[in-house]
Amino acid sequence: MPTTAANPVETLQQIAGGYCLPRSLHVVADLGIADELDETPKSAGDIAAAVDADADALGRALRLLAAHGVFEIEGETFRHSPASRLLRSDHPQSMRPFARMFGLPICWETSGAMAHSLRTGLPAASEVFKEGFFDYLANRPEEGHIFNAAMAAKAHGAIAGILSSYDFSPFEVIGDIGGGSGHLLRAILTDAAPNASGVLFELPHVIEEASGIAFERLTLQAGDFFQDPLPTCDAYLLMEVIHDWGDEESAAILRAIRHAAPAAAKLLLIETIVPDDPGPDWSKMLDIHMLTLLGGRQRTVQEFEALLAGAGFLLEREIDTRVGISILEAVAD
Ligand SMILES: C[S@@+](CC[C@H](N)C(=O)[O-])C[C@H]1O[C@@H](n2cnc3c(N)ncnc32)[C@H](O)[C@@H]1O
Repeated sequence: MPTTAANPVETLQQIAGGYCLPRSLHVVADLGIADELDETPKSAGDIAAAVDADADALGRALRLLAAHGVFEIEGETFRHSPASRLLRSDHPQSMRPFARMFGLPICWETSGAMAHSLRTGLPAASEVFKEGFFDYLANRPEEGHIFNAAMAAKAHGAIAGILSSYDFSPFEVIGDIGGGSGHLLRAILTDAAPNASGVLFELPHVIEEASGIAFERLTLQAGDFFQDPLPTCDAYLLMEVIHDWGDEESAAILRAIRHAAPAAAKLLLIETIVPDDPGPDWSKMLDIHMLTLLGGRQRTVQEFEALLAGAGFLLEREIDTRVGISILEAVAD
């Protein structure tokens, strides 16, 4: 969360009490407030009437968000800012599902139980919900849908940078392991590797939701990368999959790929790297979410190198895509 604190007391005030800011965003995204606002500024009363909310309370939440760049205040009315426009459901790069995902009980209630993670190093989510994160989503189709849409939404911003930073054209078969709804793989097959075919490997409930995207060059394979054989490909994409897992599970996933991969295959880990710079960085927030939700972690390049080496891969290079995510290219050692 951005702080504009001028002194140490204010720093603590803003951090300690600041969780009303993200929570306002979750609720406003859930209520579909941005969809009620077009190019004409509207009063909180008009917006509230359309979504069955309390005008005064909604206006105060919007005032808080506007102070942080989400919506703008114009006299007695609210209008869109560039960030609030992204909360509209019909925006081609809509981030509404992403904001809603962080407001789901699995995220919000887990955050409240963070002490369990700090004491034990284990995911607080399993303490609160007694089931793993991905089982939770599989068992609640509506929330699973929001999660899958959130993954596609956050990837939208990165896909152009990934495609322009790496030459995917030499590959014949590209596997996207844990590739969500197939958003990255589809973009690669369409725009960067028009002669390649692709395999989306995902959990059964995600494959079921993605069933409409298959075409003659894109096949869908339902499975569990801890148990089932992986497809034979000459490139393997793992975008924000390894960060979900601790070192042991991560090594198991990488070994499964090593087992399936032909000798010259490339492994491309696409991850937000923890920088050496001690300043604020999204990777450091994501890291705590990974800890509490899944027992996973964000890693430095050196940590990835060691993890890869332990599973029989050699890290060849890191490509900074300039969109907040890196491609780590590795080959079998
Ligand atoms: C953080 S999401 C990343 C999705 C996508 N790669 C992206 O970056 O947009 C992790 C994905 O791993 C999938 N996943 C989790 N456990 C899995 C398993 N055991 N086998 C296959 N896929 C799994 C989830 O369904 C989820 O879509």
